[in-house]
Amino acid sequence: MSKGPLAIEFAGIPFSNPFMLSSAPPTLDAKRVIRAAKLGWGGAVLKTVTEEPTVDPRTRLGVLREQGKLIGMNNIELLSRHPLKVWIDSWIPEIKAKAPEDFVVVASIMSSPEPEGWTTLAETMSQTGVNALELNVSCPHGSPEKHMGAFIGQNPDLVEQVTKAAKKGTDLPIFVKLTPNVTDIVPIAKAAKRGGANALSAINTVESLIGIDIETATPYPFAYDAELANPQSTYGGFCGPAVRPLGLRFVSQIAKALPNIPISGMGGIENWRNAVEYLMVGASTLQVCTAVMWYGFRIIRDITKHLTEFMKEKGYKTVEEIVGKALPKITTWTALPKLPPVVAWIDPKKCELGKECIVACADAGYQAIRMEGNRIIVDPEKCDGCGLCAVVCGANAVEFVKKE
Ligand SMILES: Cc1cc2nc3c(=O)[nH]c(=O)nc-3n(C[C@H](O)[C@H](O)[C@H](O)COP(=O)(O)O)c2cc1C
Ligand code: SF4
Repeated sequence: MSKGPLAIEFAGIPFSNPFMLSSAPPTLDAKRVIRAAKLGWGGAVLKTVTEEPTVDPRTRLGVLREQGKLIGMNNIELLSRHPLKVWIDSWIPEIKAKAPEDFVVVASIMSSPEPEGWTTLAETMSQTGVNALELNVSCPHGSPEKHMGAFIGQNPDLVEQVTKAAKKGTDLPIFVKLTPNVTDIVPIAKAAKRGGANALSAINTVESLIGIDIETATPYPFAYDAELANPQSTYGGFCGPAVRPLGLRFVSQIAKALPNIPISGMGGIENWRNAVEYLMVGASTLQVCTAVMWYGFRIIRDITKHLTEFMKEKGYKTVEEIVGKALPKITTWTALPKLPPVVAWIDPKKCELGKECIVACADAGYQAIRMEGNRIIVDPEKCDGCGLCAVVCGANAVEFVKKE
């Protein structure tokens, strides 16, 4: 077992690094999982299986772009389209045989609220040689219509019941994957823990409608019929960079409420910085789907390289030392310091005279910025320290200083 700089133990399982592929198209068969394992991923959560394979609509993906750059994706894909037997007899043994020995394999399972289904699936999948099971009680589309997925994950009693049922069928660690489509994730996380969860995974996708083709008044993504006529759509699961603020919020809320349960964080992780953010709010393994779908398995090389460099530079000896680092700085609004005397200061060396700050401060700030000759000046008497100029500045030229 290699014990490199990024090694971490999660729910009793040693990982060579904290990065896993999440349960999604990048893990839909053995071949691709083996390829990812050889490129350096620490583990993979296999595409969710249930008793019957899925038949999916086509097409089933829609994206959100901002100035050409992909920022979010919506999917109406369901579960594995391959029969359980293929996973059990061929694919999982093949992954275990061909992936590096320390590559962690997690089977994702889903069933109805009836406990028997969970017990049987857990028992069956744990005989395949996987290292852990993840319970998918969080898929927001399709599944809830069948009283599965988020239908279970939105109800603490059902979450506790199915977690207990799965535990009955296995001695392997169980991760429960939670849905962000709830008002408060903490009672659900607590229910999973009461049911015996060894770890929590968060977040699954956010229920959404990604957009409308205004020429044809048709929502994306288009699910075509056989004649490619009259495409229809439905509410799907939103993921990618645009959901990262939600993922960070949910992971931090779970970590603060349940400090002793390991969390596998996901939702919009694209690069090493996003990984550090998730670690700092309490995740100790990290899962990635969308960034791999857009940029390929190879992103793992950059992510691990730069995370290692960051740790060296900051003096972190283990990944564990980063976990939860930002949590003490997340407090309630009421406890925040108010009315500190800070004002904006624009660094003339960085300012590119884009003037975004002048427009923003004039119409939504406190009319504190003006041009003087070819310099932008802040009037400290008028400035309220709201921070609007800093967020709109394209040159990152605004700093905050104590008001004299
Ligand atoms: C096309 C697609 C299919 C997915 N299928 C599953 C699935 O079968 N089981 C599951 O637990 N999550 C599934 N997910 C959710 C992802 O595993 C992950 O929770 C979510 O996309 C957030 O991570 P990301 O922002 O890195 O994509 C799917 C996501 C996408 C985009
Ligand atoms: S901090 Fe707010 S009020 Fe002060 S200059 Fe910037 S936008 Fe204007």
